[in-house]
Amino acid sequence: MIVVSGIQPTGKPHLGNYLGAIRNYVKLQDEAVAQGGRCLIFLADLHAISMPHDPAQLNASTLEMVATLVACGLDPARTVLFNQAQVPAHAELQWLLMGTARMGWLSRMTQWKDKAGKNREGQSVALFGYPVLQAADVLLYQATHVPVGDDQKQHLELARDIAQKFNNDFAPKSANGEEAPVFTLPEPYIPEEAARIMSLRDGTRKMSKSEPSDMSRVNLTDSADDMASKVKKAKTDPEPLPSEAAGLADRAEARNLVGIYAALSGQAVDAVLREHGGKGFGHFKPALADLLVATLGPIRDRFVELKDDHEALHAILANGAAEARALSRPTLDAAYSALGLVRG
Ligand code: TYM
Repeated sequence: MIVVSGIQPTGKPHLGNYLGAIRNYVKLQDEAVAQGGRCLIFLADLHAISMPHDPAQLNASTLEMVATLVACGLDPARTVLFNQAQVPAHAELQWLLMGTARMGWLSRMTQWKDKAGKNREGQSVALFGYPVLQAADVLLYQATHVPVGDDQKQHLELARDIAQKFNNDFAPKSANGEEAPVFTLPEPYIPEEAARIMSLRDGTRKMSKSEPSDMSRVNLTDSADDMASKVKKAKTDPEPLPSEAAGLADRAEARNLVGIYAALSGQAVDAVLREHGGKGFGHFKPALADLLVATLGPIRDRFVELKDDHEALHAILANGAAEARALSRPTLDAAYSALGLVRG
């Protein structure tokens, strides 16, 4: 089992990142170690420059993201924790895969369409090629499991398509004529509950770091008071909660809050509704706020302890990067060689 995933160090990590992905990084870290596999989690800082950004801000939030991931339970002694910018193999493999990825595939990516909107001509080339770098990120380590939220599923499918085409076009034949694939096809690992946490202000929009209103999300670094007040002010409807999940079908905001409760408490949605069905949000919101503070409070406290020790945070990234450089070498070499490129 080889677990690989990434998170962009832009803005503050939020509840959606935690429930959709970070919690599974920690779970799979433990499973990978138990099975003698590897877990690699990286900060996708090269992806972050595909959109307009403030360099000083990116620099600061990269260190904050390391502190947050460690506070969430990632253990640098067991997980290879690093940033792409210190492992040039990511950018190198992206370029090697650019010859395999098709314009049509990239044009169909919903993230590209959403972010570019009507102004495609005005976007950076990096935004368009973004999913190719993401494919390189996982293929470089022969990833088997990629823990992500639902919004990254399409990018993972593209990574599989790129890997498959590259293997078909270039995999060298072994002595007995069998193809020795250069890349493993990665599987997305998406949680059943909480694969897509929605904004607290609009149940039809994803909770996102880039949403201007901070009231739309619970940040992992929010104080207990902020968390409680964001839940209190979250958009809802006037109806009491239904007693079965089917009753949430047309109630996006209610469905989101119940889904968050279910994911945080480790219960199924129906079980949450058996307990809270028939009651209004005046009752449910305080219960949700308590659960949030109980789960995220310890993470925040640990983050506060870690965040200012820049030397320690830099050391985590430097060690992780050294290990990632070594782990990426065989696949990078195999890709260069399969393409017929002469080196050394
Ligand atoms: P990013 O930084 O937007 O998000 C990091 C992870 O959090 C998940 N996520 C969510 N899950 C549930 N509900 C939400 N509202 C929500 N918002 C975000 C994302 O699915 C993701 O798993 N392109 C990626 C970073 C990346 C990557 C990779 C991921 C770069 N290379 C290779 C996996 C493998 C991104 O921008 O994630």
